[in-house]
Amino acid sequence: MAVRAKIVGTGSSLPSRVVTNKDLEIMVDTSDEWIRTRTGICERRIAGEGENNSLFAAEAGRRALEMAGVDAADLDLILVATMTPDMVMPSVACLVQDALGAGRAGAMDLMATCSGFIYGLSVAERFVRCDPSMKVLVIGSEVLSRRVNWEDRSTCVLFGDGAGAALVIGEEGDRGILSSHLHSDGSLWELLTVKGCGTRFPVSHDNLEQGLQFIQMQGREVFKHAVKALESVALEALESNGLNMGDVDLLIAHQANMRILDFLRQRMGLEQDKVFINIDKYGNTSAASIAIALDEANRQGRLSPGMNVLMVAFGGGFTWGSMLVRW
Ligand code: UT7
Repeated sequence: MAVRAKIVGTGSSLPSRVVTNKDLEIMVDTSDEWIRTRTGICERRIAGEGENNSLFAAEAGRRALEMAGVDAADLDLILVATMTPDMVMPSVACLVQDALGAGRAGAMDLMATCSGFIYGLSVAERFVRCDPSMKVLVIGSEVLSRRVNWEDRSTCVLFGDGAGAALVIGEEGDRGILSSHLHSDGSLWELLTVKGCGTRFPVSHDNLEQGLQFIQMQGREVFKHAVKALESVALEALESNGLNMGDVDLLIAHQANMRILDFLRQRMGLEQDKVFINIDKYGNTSAASIAIALDEANRQGRLSPGMNVLMVAFGGGFTWGSMLVRW
């Protein structure tokens, strides 16, 4: 019987500080009504002083290991998908390795923006399929609040902080990851960026004054590409497995905008309860978004053995991708 990569534990960790739309009304020229109707977001979690990416990443990982009953010392690899690491060097994954006491694990970060968790799961799946004895912890974790210009209403209302994790192991049987498809289009990179503080636009007074260290997005353009890419990658996942829309038991899509989720649901002809939604509580948490949603769905008892769970993501780069799991 074939060995499949299987998700045997999930976890998540969020800052305790809640920032509501009403709170933002005091900070920028916006309204609760605009944010709710244009995005579906009601509130988001924002990291407090001294709370860094690796703190949430490690806690989410710890919870995933606990659910699976696996000791951190038995991990072989830790992958952290993020675009907001604690530092340029070392990786968040190394800090997580230390925090968990994962003595023999390799550790690396992976940057694929909002698609990072899907990319990470996909890499884990390949490792596990090559060596079924491997245990790989995949984490999506972000502290986007420190890359947001809190004076720019077009972006600051959208994003939130947090982390989610999944433990992937090899197991014989029909259940587990059925397929993953990854895509990118770098020609459109300028539509969604954090240009500053890399090597092209290094830290300098000029660059900081221009706000290059902040997230900049041409929202309407990104929206158009996102809906197209998400629909096509969902279809691609189903077709490659000989399945159709009706076979999807739960769709977990990147939580970027409620209108994108509604569009997808309608195009795929899915009932409301087959589309997981938590954007209202957390906003857009980029690489953490699907990871947190997967853990919440799992802990709410919405995933039962044999269900087809379709995850689809889209983000800056552009990157997009899918992962179909028989739970
Ligand atoms: O995670 C990676 C993928 N990201 C996405 O998929 C995000 C995709 N894009 C979006 O979700 C939406 O484009 C946004 C939510 C970012 C923006 O919604 P929109 O309906 O595309 O609005 P818009 O940018 O076209 O702006 C419409 C109006 C503008 O005013 P005028 O020019 O019509 O007078 C904006 O200045 O809304 C204004 N506006 C705001 N008003 C109140 C923009 N932000 C705000 C705000 N509060 N926070």
